[in-house]
Amino acid sequence: MAFPNSLFLLILFSLLSLLPSTQSRLSVDYYNKTCPQYHNIMQRIIADKQISAPTTAAAILRVFFHDCIVNGCDASILIASNAFNKSELDSDSNLSLAGDAFDLITRVKTALELQCPGVVSCSDILALSARDLVIMVGGPFYEVLMGRKDSKVSDPSIAESNLPKPTMPMSKLLSLFSTKGFSAEEMVALVGAHTIGFSHCKEFANRIFNFSKTSEYDPAYNPAFAQGLRKLCANYTKDPEMSAFNDVFTPGKFDNMYYKNLQRGLGLLLSDQAMLMDNKTRPFVDLFAANQTAFFYSFARSMEKLSVYKTKTDKDGEVRRRCDQINTLQI
Ligand code: HEM
Ligand SMILES: *[C@@H]1O[C@H](CO)[C@@H](O)[C@H](O)[C@H]1NC(C)=O
Ligand SMILES: *[C@@H]1O[C@H](CO)[C@@H](O)[C@H](O)[C@H]1NC(C)=O
Ligand SMILES: *[C@@H]1O[C@H](CO)[C@@H](O)[C@H](O)[C@H]1NC(C)=O
Ligand SMILES: *[C@@H]1O[C@H](CO)[C@@H](O)[C@H](O)[C@H]1NC(C)=O
Ligand SMILES: *[C@@H]1O[C@H](CO)[C@@H](O)[C@H](O)[C@H]1NC(C)=O
Ligand SMILES: *[C@@H]1O[C@H](CO)[C@@H](O)[C@H](O)[C@H]1NC(C)=O
Ligand SMILES: *[C@@H]1O[C@H](CO)[C@@H](O)[C@H](O)[C@H]1NC(C)=O
Repeated sequence: MAFPNSLFLLILFSLLSLLPSTQSRLSVDYYNKTCPQYHNIMQRIIADKQISAPTTAAAILRVFFHDCIVNGCDASILIASNAFNKSELDSDSNLSLAGDAFDLITRVKTALELQCPGVVSCSDILALSARDLVIMVGGPFYEVLMGRKDSKVSDPSIAESNLPKPTMPMSKLLSLFSTKGFSAEEMVALVGAHTIGFSHCKEFANRIFNFSKTSEYDPAYNPAFAQGLRKLCANYTKDPEMSAFNDVFTPGKFDNMYYKNLQRGLGLLLSDQAMLMDNKTRPFVDLFAANQTAFFYSFARSMEKLSVYKTKTDKDGEVRRRCDQINTLQI
């Protein structure tokens, strides 16, 4: 008697899980009825912030990548540590994720909570801010669907094992992206985000000081560039804020200069330069260096893919009222 019943339930549940849940489906129109003004409100705040703090675009783009690549685009990265738990922010690789990014998200969230309380998720705010800022600094348009839910957890140990590091060999970086469904071309295109922003000296110090028995600096560097970096970073242990532009020629402009730099030995991080050395990645570096349209197209498609990576639904997520805390911890 029990057997047919449980079998029936099993089949019923399987069927139910196949039904599309309208509430959790992402779409461009997601907030049209519940918060029609949300994008206008966001755009004003984003533009003001980028104009007063031009490092915001790079900061947001990096935070967005770190959010998505660690267990999906769910704003888990925005959660601050609390008395009970450390968060992703406190993982070793947060590497001073710029405060400008968190400031922007807080401003946007505050404005949206006044207009339509409890409606727009923090993960959507982060995803759409990244897109708008890429455009503001000269990059391509791409579609960002809305309707992500925010995670109810943030765990720094997951962050550590999921984030790419500049010291990882290219084979490791390729497999890290590939386990998340990204091809070599998509990886090369996404890392093109290093056409803006900067890196702290400690991220490439091993390439410019005491590199090997025979060379003070990595011979893959253009010699003049290496000397410039050695001067810039001379005090970096005493002054850990010292940093260099990721794209030395057009640091604030989203363009394909980053790939041209790699061909001239001007790739800042070891992982940047390594994309030129590996047979699986080099063809895409060369293509994007030669053709900005090809880079923009590939970057846009890859960002669309990244921005829906492992998004949460009503079942495993919520719309946080504050982006830095899950709702049950709020008073
Ligand atoms: C091979 C994979 C990657 C590695 C090893 C890597 C590593 C790094 C490192 C070490 C920094 C410097 C951080 C600091 O010193 O504060 C950095 C900066 C940055 N990364 Fe990546 N990254 C990778 C891929 C990506 C991707 C896929 C994106 C975005 C789609 C991205 C966006 C950025 C941006 C915009 C900055 C500049 C941040 C700023 O100026 O505030 N990175 N990256
Ligand atoms: C949603 O709003 C956008 C912008 O106002 C508009 O372009 C679009 O047609 C709307 N979609 C629907 C289904 O109403
Ligand atoms: C990053 O982590 C360090 C310690 O690991 C912490 O002191 C710092 O406040 C964190 N940065 C941010 C922006 O939270
Ligand atoms: C706190 O950390 C534990 C273990 O890492 C995790 O299972 C739990 O979900 C976390 N809680 C919150 C509120 O992040
Ligand atoms: C390079 O190595 C030498 C000896 O190992 C050490 O004395 C020196 O401080 C190192 N220089 C830098 C810049 O780290
Ligand atoms: C490094 O520190 C010394 C002494 O503190 C100072 O004179 C010099 O200007 C600093 N160099 C750089 C590049 O910051
Ligand atoms: C890369 O390609 C070149 C030429 O096609 C070949 O000679 C070389 O062995 C390849 N290197 C690796 C590591 O596959
Ligand atoms: C550049 O790439 C675009 C998009 O892939 C392509 O349509 C165009 O023909 C390419 N231009 C050149 C000069 O190869």
